[in-house]
Amino acid sequence: MRRYSRIAGTGSYLPPRRLTNADLAAELAARDVETSDDWIVERTGIRARHFAAPDVCSSDLGFEAAKKALQAAGRSASEIDLIIVATSTPDMVFPSTACILQHKLAQSSDDARGIAGCPAFDVQAVCSGFVYALSVADAMIQTGAANRALVIGAEVFSRILDFTDRTTCVLFGDGAGAVVLEASDTPGILASDLHADGKHVGILCVPGNVSGGQVIGSPLLTMDGQAVFKLAVGVLEDAARATLAKANLTDADIDWLIPHQANIRIMQSTAKKLKLPLSKLIVTVDQHGNTSAASIPLALDASVRSGKIKTGDTLMLEGVGGGFTWGAVLLTL
Ligand code: UT7
Repeated sequence: MRRYSRIAGTGSYLPPRRLTNADLAAELAARDVETSDDWIVERTGIRARHFAAPDVCSSDLGFEAAKKALQAAGRSASEIDLIIVATSTPDMVFPSTACILQHKLAQSSDDARGIAGCPAFDVQAVCSGFVYALSVADAMIQTGAANRALVIGAEVFSRILDFTDRTTCVLFGDGAGAVVLEASDTPGILASDLHADGKHVGILCVPGNVSGGQVIGSPLLTMDGQAVFKLAVGVLEDAARATLAKANLTDADIDWLIPHQANIRIMQSTAKKLKLPLSKLIVTVDQHGNTSAASIPLALDASVRSGKIKTGDTLMLEGVGGGFTWGAVLLTL
């Protein structure tokens, strides 16, 4: 009998500090940076975002999301045998945020025997990170290398924003989302499709690095928004169609489209290309901004908890971002 993986529970966490566009515009005005609620809403669909407190790291946000996902799955940390964290804002250069998070889960658990020794690693695919991580966890479960994984997207993008650059700093937020993915006789994950093209490294990057005890180059995000926009619109349709073809399904089989939450215009364009009514498009970018690898699991968990997405629904998850990376995962919840 074929072995599949299936989502058994979802969770998410947003840091409490919420800034509306008006709040952010007021803060930026103090730095002589001009923006407005009207511009941000019209060009992106974003109305608010959350920023973590200065002492809060990606592992802290991921830890809260993971606890909720475990609770939703009815599982304890000791039953987890794989942890994958998708992040571009890790706590440290090394070790991985996944290892730091593993230790936090082990410390909070009555019985840490399982989770304390399981493999844990980060995936770096920027805003495509969660679909990359989910696809890797699915492959490891299918082969029997793991039975029950925590797959987490966690970001503190506020740490890498240039608050003098209005073309980027209004777009991003902090947060985390998680799923428990476990082995199952029935699907689950139906198909996935991952891609990267490194020739586009320069259009979305944080070019700095740590060397000789110093940060060399800029440690802040830089983006050619229009170049990213054009690429994103094309590849999101391609990835969705490739994934549907692998699963022998069509557009009409998709109950819910959960694209990376970066810009409502990109998301709506993708839905239209897939001939999906906008009522099937899950939108949280308005409330979360772009949380990079956390955006898809945050949107998934919000929609599951609100009752919009139900067990048995077919979901198309789609990521796109720096690298350039893109991909999709098609699944039945
Ligand atoms: O997560 C990875 C994926 N990332 C993305 O998907 C981002 C993709 N790109 C985008 O979402 C859009 O390109 C942006 C939202 C970044 C920009 O929207 P746009 O419609 O491409 O605007 P633009 O860059 O063409 O700028 C239009 C105008 C410019 O002024 P001028 O030159 O026409 O006078 C900008 O200076 O808007 C100005 N502008 C702003 N004005 C007020 C840029 N940012 C702001 C701002 N507030 N925050």
